[in-house]
Amino acid sequence: MDDRPIGVFDSGIGGLTVFSEIIRLLPDESIIYFGDTARFPYGPKNLEEIRHFVFKIAEFLIDRNVKMIVIACNTATVAALDDLKKRYNIPVIGVIEPGARIAAQYTTNKRVGLIATKGTVLSQAYEIAVKKINPEIKLFSHAAPKLVELIEAGILDGKELDDVINVYLLPLIMESIDVLILGCTHLPLIEKKITALSKNRFKVVSSAVETAEDVKSTLLELGLASSKIENKAGNVKEFYETGSKSHFLEVGRIFLGEKIREVKRVTLDI
Ligand code: DGL
Repeated sequence: MDDRPIGVFDSGIGGLTVFSEIIRLLPDESIIYFGDTARFPYGPKNLEEIRHFVFKIAEFLIDRNVKMIVIACNTATVAALDDLKKRYNIPVIGVIEPGARIAAQYTTNKRVGLIATKGTVLSQAYEIAVKKINPEIKLFSHAAPKLVELIEAGILDGKELDDVINVYLLPLIMESIDVLILGCTHLPLIEKKITALSKNRFKVVSSAVETAEDVKSTLLELGLASSKIENKAGNVKEFYETGSKSHFLEVGRIFLGEKIREVKRVTLDI
């Protein structure tokens, strides 16, 4: 049993989609969430630069005595999962493999679509992960930077958003995909919208639920799960961000309600 918190991070608010699945599955765990909103977006940046940011965030979380790190960002998973695993002796979990697993499970025609950041698409990480599970699956990928920016800016509805979604979906519909991976953790914040605009032509999946399952099984396997905390005051949820002009609290509230009361601003020594 281990009552230390789990550290979860993203470039911004996207990782809250993973955070919310973790607290749904593991309500007794304490979690520290970190959004690097000062350096958002990670998607167009080079992987070396992102790796540098990730190391700084990991140091911040390690200083707060986390027992596990969840990289709730696809781009950062691509850039630094292996390095973080080597650097620290606590478990580190990424979001690409869980997302690939769920897509491979659902596709029947073996034609899978992916919308993600430029960094994730260019890395071909999903392609590699999906083919490892089933080499017959064909992956059709599109970078969706505009969508990620609208979500981070708190635009979760309206015509502008619908138009952008349709632009990204059209080429994938033309490829007759039967599963679409939301390969950026921001995208599940508008999953209902994407599903509605897909008009049931394909199933929309993301890695949040599967990642939370991985967190649970890893904690249990390593004997790191929290003891049942009767007094819920001991069960901490803390939120940190680096930016000053973000919509973290506002969008976080829409998504998590009262579970998010305050976001503390911190700076990283980059
Ligand atoms: N949420 C991040 C991801 O899953 C990306 C957003 C960004 O471009 O920073 O890749």
